[in-house]
Amino acid sequence: MAEQSKKWVLMVTAQAPTNIAVIKYWGKRDENLILAINDSISVTLDPAHLCTTTTVAVSPSFNQDRMWLNRKEISLAGGRYQNCLREIRARARDVEDEKKGIKITKKDWQNLHVHIDSYNNFPTAAGLASSAAGFACLVFSLAKLMNVQEDNGRLSAIARQGSGSACRSLFGGFVKWVMGKEENGSDSVAVPLVDEKHWDELVIIIAVVSSRQKETSSTSGMRETVETSALIEHRAKVVVPKRIIQMEEAIQNRDFPTFAQLTCSDSNQFHAVCMDTSPPIFYMNDTSHRVIGCVEKWNRSEGTPQVAYTFDAGPNAVLIARNRKAATLMLQRLLFHFPPNSDTDLDSYVIGDKSILKDAGIQDINDVEALPPPPEIKDKVPAQKYKGEISYFICTRPGRGPVLLTDESQALLNPETGLPK
Ligand code: DP6
Repeated sequence: MAEQSKKWVLMVTAQAPTNIAVIKYWGKRDENLILAINDSISVTLDPAHLCTTTTVAVSPSFNQDRMWLNRKEISLAGGRYQNCLREIRARARDVEDEKKGIKITKKDWQNLHVHIDSYNNFPTAAGLASSAAGFACLVFSLAKLMNVQEDNGRLSAIARQGSGSACRSLFGGFVKWVMGKEENGSDSVAVPLVDEKHWDELVIIIAVVSSRQKETSSTSGMRETVETSALIEHRAKVVVPKRIIQMEEAIQNRDFPTFAQLTCSDSNQFHAVCMDTSPPIFYMNDTSHRVIGCVEKWNRSEGTPQVAYTFDAGPNAVLIARNRKAATLMLQRLLFHFPPNSDTDLDSYVIGDKSILKDAGIQDINDVEALPPPPEIKDKVPAQKYKGEISYFICTRPGRGPVLLTDESQALLNPETGLPK
């Protein structure tokens, strides 16, 4: 490498999805390695609508590791970044690019610096799990750049050290994070259960809730729960192990009623242990509760669940509909109860897979205003409307795991300088 010019820049771009847990991870047994107190299961969301894109570059002209997130430089000093970088570097191998005349040996990687540029295709402020997609993408792209030979399961154990939920973003479809037993965390990895084609009828609608106050981070929230909640141990040791078995079976059999019952119960129990924390943590707000009410009422009136709901460490609702028809009927109900503010156009109010909106027969704001009250609402109770309580909806579906983007025009870093474009 020494004889080569200092000019070259070698880079790789990848895209990784985010995920939403249907059996929640909440509580650690090791804070540094990020080891969970229970297994969890998630569904990966379609990266077309929610994903992180990351370009990583290496050049002998870089004099320190640097990172940009959503076009702003951020510090890599934190332990989580450092743990991921160290673990990936330790597994780096020889890399040769004959066309560019670049040769990097396994040893060289210890002294070479990297530039990382990461971008989310969804608003970070929306409180959607950006760290899951972010760390999965960081680890995946660095592994490709450094010719790391480990499979995605092994890489998931590295992404886990960035953020627990990130390990599940190394795969598409439904994914289980096995908590593991080893003290060093080597068996605390993500395992793919079924790919995204297995249950492709499912449609996911995310309701991004407005007026958000500062929330307790997942990291400190779960620490406080483990320290103070009397219920968390029962959840982790008794409830979740049973639910994991039932959930895996429901997913294998595409058994929506069982899936929905488990998903809703587990979300509600996660929020119950948050409330059982001292001081109590409230992630859901009145709008979240209204969405739950709307789903529960409709499911009950249909006699069998049409939609499952789940909420992470924030007020946004993630609704999983059994099929397109159910998603369409759900969206009509949501738009009836939560119409947009008058200054919001429909095009920016329902984003992602807009074909659901078309199926619902809604083309413009007049169609929203003309929506009849859902029949399950009894005539005696006037139908309530909560205009502006939701910022927007994202329509999506289960999606694939991380991929390399080979089209160089998609790189976020300049191939000449290795700096953000
Ligand atoms: C409620 O993975 O964000 O979304 O491991 O401390 O980074 P750290 O926490 P994080 O926690 C996610 C919690 C959750 C449930 C889940 O995704 O399983």
